[in-house]
Amino acid sequence: MKVFLSLFVIYFLAINIQINNAEIDCTIYANDLKIINLNPFYVSLNFYPSSTSIKLNYESQVTDFNIFNNVNPSSNIYCLKNLENLQLVNTNLTILPDIKNFQKLTSLLIQSDNGIIGQHLPSELGELISLSYLKLFDIKNLEDLPNEIDHLIQLRILMLQNIPNFNKIPDESMGKLINLRVLNLIDLPNLSTIPSTIKNFQSLIQFEITNTNIKNLELENLHGLSTLTIKSNSILQTIEIVNMLLLASIQIQNNNELLTLKFQNLSSLSSLTMSSNSKLTSLDMENISILQTISLSDNKQFKIATFKNLSNLNSINFSFLANFESISFENTPALSTVSITASSLSKNISFLNVPSIINLDLSGCQLTTFPESILTLKSLVNLILKVNQLSTLPLTLSTDLPNLQVLDLSRNNFQGNIFQQSPLIYLRELYLSNNSLVSIDGIGEYESLRNLDLNYNKILSIPLEIMELSSTLNTLTINYNQLHSIPYQMTNMRGLTSLIATYNNISDSERQYLYQIFNPTTIQFII
Ligand SMILES: *[C@@H]1O[C@H](CO)[C@@H](O)[C@H](O)[C@H]1NC(C)=O
Ligand SMILES: *[C@@H]1O[C@H](CO)[C@@H](O)[C@H](O)[C@H]1NC(C)=O
Ligand SMILES: *[C@@H]1O[C@H](CO)[C@@H](O)[C@H](O)[C@H]1NC(C)=O
Ligand SMILES: *[C@@H]1O[C@H](CO)[C@@H](O)[C@H](O)[C@H]1NC(C)=O
Ligand SMILES: *[C@@H]1O[C@H](CO)[C@@H](O)[C@H](O)[C@H]1NC(C)=O
Ligand SMILES: *[C@@H]1O[C@H](CO)[C@@H](O)[C@H](O)[C@H]1NC(C)=O
Ligand SMILES: *[C@@H]1O[C@H](CO)[C@@H](O)[C@H](O)[C@H]1NC(C)=O
Ligand SMILES: *[C@@H]1O[C@H](CO)[C@@H](O)[C@H](O)[C@H]1NC(C)=O
Ligand SMILES: *[C@@H]1O[C@H](CO)[C@@H](O)[C@H](O)[C@H]1NC(C)=O
Repeated sequence: MKVFLSLFVIYFLAINIQINNAEIDCTIYANDLKIINLNPFYVSLNFYPSSTSIKLNYESQVTDFNIFNNVNPSSNIYCLKNLENLQLVNTNLTILPDIKNFQKLTSLLIQSDNGIIGQHLPSELGELISLSYLKLFDIKNLEDLPNEIDHLIQLRILMLQNIPNFNKIPDESMGKLINLRVLNLIDLPNLSTIPSTIKNFQSLIQFEITNTNIKNLELENLHGLSTLTIKSNSILQTIEIVNMLLLASIQIQNNNELLTLKFQNLSSLSSLTMSSNSKLTSLDMENISILQTISLSDNKQFKIATFKNLSNLNSINFSFLANFESISFENTPALSTVSITASSLSKNISFLNVPSIINLDLSGCQLTTFPESILTLKSLVNLILKVNQLSTLPLTLSTDLPNLQVLDLSRNNFQGNIFQQSPLIYLRELYLSNNSLVSIDGIGEYESLRNLDLNYNKILSIPLEIMELSSTLNTLTINYNQLHSIPYQMTNMRGLTSLIATYNNISDSERQYLYQIFNPTTIQFII
């Protein structure tokens, strides 16, 4: 009878709440478990992070409550005054002013509210003075946060994600959240400004702005910020990032209207990644001493890059820049790898005081002439120029690049013979497949050569001078050419481990003889 009566009281109370928003009377519950048990769904007492369950402390008070997919929790849960962590995932709990009861709540996640929350959250949200983590995710109708959030001074992590109608963060109140460490503004397509008070966030470490309606972004003097992500903001035109002493990594991706970028005084910036910003045309980096890597890809209108006085810049990786014109490096003493691939590089690459470069890859850059500036890179070891339209090499290549060991010129327009021009006496690996070479006369002077790839050319014969490389040459591949035979002396090339020459014009009897004489050698021989 007693139980029945109290159930009736609760029912009456619930109706009452809907009518006049009166506070829930929490005095009628003897303990937390009684409150939990009144939910119209099973609540496990074994706490699991992703199922409907609670955690009790040693005084049998509920400290953690997760509700998943049980759509109508009883509003008496607002009486769980010892709650520290609450997750409401896909539930229809109305957020009542009674939320202020959660004075110990440190973490609140509300995800997929089925539209129950409406346009505004109650101002009492601001009374959760212990709150340090707040995530609102997939909230249908919410438009803003209450001004009273200014009391949430313990808040460290604020994540607002996938809230289609969200359009306002109260400027002044937001500015009070000075302990914020992580701020995510993700999938808020109606948000058009970030709070001007953001400069107060001196403890902010991580900031992401993705898929918003922000047009101009100016971020200044956030001295704690370490990573910044700016993605898929469809109308974003300008970005200014100035004076951030700890900012280490910036990612700017898929902002289709982005036109101008300004970076200044970013003394800790070590990595910059930019991709798919289809209108961005230029990038200018100067005096950023920590910057180590820069990656750019698929920025369709990108034309000009200038890098000046970047004392730690180590590697550049640019790819898929269809309208790229020129790039210049000046005073980049630590630069070791430059890779610009599948781009146009139609005008110019220039290097001034770049003393440590080791790898340069300009594959697929539509080059018709060998960029002269490469000849200034005395330290260069690996030069990859495959898939271009080169037909000549500079005569001074060998003397200008004394450290060059690997040269890849596959798929270019080299014709006839290039070996006689200027012997690359230091070269160890040479890749020349898919050109139109007819002769390799002069090969004898390539004293250091270990690997030679000549596939897909029109070479008619291997000259006997190849015996000059007898102790150095390791592998020779010369498939798809027009050889009639292979010099028999090559059986005595003591350094050779592999000679592959399939798809040539060698008669059957000649082939048989060749197999016979190469048989006793240790050379892997395939024709
Ligand atoms: C929860 O809310 C949604 C949307 O209003 C509704 O379709 C659903 O029936 C509600 N669930 C319950 C159990 O009332
Ligand atoms: C965003 O705001 C505009 C008016 O400014 C409104 O028409 C639209 O429905 C809102 N919601 C979304 C998802 O764009
Ligand atoms: C850059 O930093 C220096 C020293 O920290 C400061 O004096 C200067 O005003 C800053 N420049 C800008 C544009 O903020
Ligand atoms: C870079 O540093 C040099 C020398 O300190 C200075 O003259 C120049 O104005 C600086 N450039 C920028 C963009 O800060
Ligand atoms: C390069 O930048 C550093 C600071 O990053 C500055 O002290 C130095 O003067 C600059 N040098 C030149 C040549 O601009
Ligand atoms: C350069 O960037 C492209 C595209 O982002 C990537 O596929 C490639 O692996 C990168 N190369 C290096 C050497 O990092
Ligand atoms: C190549 O770049 C250098 C340095 O940026 C510049 O001085 C020169 O005018 C450019 N040449 C062409 C042909 O664009
Ligand atoms: C060379 O050309 C052949 C035939 O067109 C092709 O199959 C092969 O992939 C090409 N190799 C290179 C390195 O481009
Ligand atoms: C192959 O060699 C024969 C005779 O040496 C010659 O007549 C023929 O034209 C050659 N074929 C090709 C494709 O070079």
